[in-house]
Amino acid sequence: MDEMKTRRHDAIVLSSGDERAAQAEMTARLKESPLPDDELLANLGLFLTSKTLSRILFFADIYKRIVETHGIIVEFGVRWGQTLSLLSALRGIHEPFNRHRRIVGFDTFEGFSGMSEVDGANCRTVDGSFSVSPDYEAELARILALQEALNPISHLTKFELIKGDARDTVPAYFAAHPESLVSLAIFDFDIYEPTKAALEAVRPFLFKGSVLVFDELADDIFPGETVAVREVLGIDTLRIRRLPTAARVSYAVIE
Ligand SMILES: C[S@@+](CC[C@H](N)C(=O)[O-])C[C@H]1O[C@@H](n2cnc3c(N)ncnc32)[C@H](O)[C@@H]1O
Repeated sequence: MDEMKTRRHDAIVLSSGDERAAQAEMTARLKESPLPDDELLANLGLFLTSKTLSRILFFADIYKRIVETHGIIVEFGVRWGQTLSLLSALRGIHEPFNRHRRIVGFDTFEGFSGMSEVDGANCRTVDGSFSVSPDYEAELARILALQEALNPISHLTKFELIKGDARDTVPAYFAAHPESLVSLAIFDFDIYEPTKAALEAVRPFLFKGSVLVFDELADDIFPGETVAVREVLGIDTLRIRRLPTAARVSYAVIE
């Protein structure tokens, strides 16, 4: 296995040296772009690589699967919030008047919390890995508010960012919201303990048709997510599938 760890988040990355160089050059092209400000957002497709686009295509497909289900979207592990922002845009496309489709994101916004032995030797992260900049949740809240401002019923806030350790915040959220139905739950904490806590807390709020998305299932670098799913739900209870557009991320529909 390539032992390269990123300086930013400690995890092993599997890109080749050539790929890393091309990614760095693409980043430089973005930062030094001559595009005028009022054309930048409309031309972000210039910088979408196949890897980035594959994730967008995955969630575009998953969103279509929840449109006829009722309930909220929860993301366990938000980081910079690109998936939350994408989901907000997809809500604007598919169901702009559905005020019940709240999007709720859980993160410490200070990186991993709760690394344990279950996460294994390949998992080079430590508590604090994948942290974001100070007070980033306020910046993300502003971006999500702007996403809503660009769609109908923007006077009704339809997102929530829950800051703190998921082992405490996820059970507390569902205790405070007994009305919850969870239409889509995205598991992306990467590690065992918060994933297990989130699975246990969300389980009573799932129904036949709820969609579960897993970012690290069967992943040898982050085995903790798979162990948590096996312990809480049981692998043999789930029809685990993937889509041709994305290699790592998988999903299951509660049957
Ligand atoms: C891989 S990142 C999530 C990426 C994000 N889903 C995306 O689409 O870009 C994993 C996130 O899990 C968060 N995390 C890890 N352990 C946590 C815990 N115990 N409680 C809350 N958040 C946690 C980290 O802070 C980190 O932001």
